[in-house]
Amino acid sequence: MKNVLIIGSTGQIGSELTMKLRAEYANGNIVAGYIPSAPPTGALAESGPSEVVDITNAQQIADVVEKYNIDTIYNLAALLSAVAENKPQLAWHIGIDGLMNVLEVAREKKCAVFTPSSIGSFGPNAPKDGTPQDTIQQPRTMYGVTKVSGELLSNYYALKFGVDTRSVRFPGLISYVTPPGGGTTDYAVDIYYSAVKGEKFICPIAPGTYMDMMYMPDALRAAIEIMEADPARLRHRNSFNIASMSFDPEIISAKIKEYIPGFEMEYQVDPLRQAIADSWPNKLDDTCARVEWDWKPEYDLDAMTRDMIEKLTAKFKK
Ligand code: SER
Repeated sequence: MKNVLIIGSTGQIGSELTMKLRAEYANGNIVAGYIPSAPPTGALAESGPSEVVDITNAQQIADVVEKYNIDTIYNLAALLSAVAENKPQLAWHIGIDGLMNVLEVAREKKCAVFTPSSIGSFGPNAPKDGTPQDTIQQPRTMYGVTKVSGELLSNYYALKFGVDTRSVRFPGLISYVTPPGGGTTDYAVDIYYSAVKGEKFICPIAPGTYMDMMYMPDALRAAIEIMEADPARLRHRNSFNIASMSFDPEIISAKIKEYIPGFEMEYQVDPLRQAIADSWPNKLDDTCARVEWDWKPEYDLDAMTRDMIEKLTAKFKK
């Protein structure tokens, strides 16, 4: 991995992954691909090259890959789960037509491709606890349909054309940098913002709803480590279960109260997000990732909570 194109570089994952890749791969070109409505700003704009790359425009992808001699593409363009339920055609267009564009360019120009999958790629028929790596995947959301289709399409390109496609199934990702937009797990980010601002948090997810979550530094490390992994050890490619913590709103709220005793939360359940969450696993089994490429998370709920509160407090003081 030397010259890397990040498609969706200004989004929740891309904005941080691009900066981390620029720090770790300083000898290469780490190109921030963006759509004109969401251009890079600040350090992201100043620290390296950026180019307009709309995933639905195959020529734009090919031109940038050619210009910078790109060897690895991080395909991070997607609509999150709740938005995708309201715009299913657009979710498919970006998630699958867009992925096909990326895979075709990768086949022609011999690039490796990372496309994240998700806990949303499972549906209500998969085992809820200790959800295995290889199990039934029958999601009922458009987000999940695009994720499981993307896994299959990426594996097809690896088997049929030898394209080096790899992926992880991300849990809900928590970060103090770029907020997510329209996901089911967003509440676990929003709750920290409310707590640090001293506001009561209105929780859209019901008590007792467990979902896998992960702190962004672990997620970024996973996205890089899977692409650096020894291919001879990989029995799976698209996509690996990874996990670090699973909690419900009561547990995260109680943890925040340990550090901000006055924190208050009230429930106003959003039926759309609750139905999505109810169809997802409680906790994935990530044994295969641990065995095949030594995956290991560093942050648990307590370590993440301390860091989130410290970083957000500093952010709001500025
Ligand atoms: N964070 C995503 C969502 O909630 C799940 O992968 O849509």
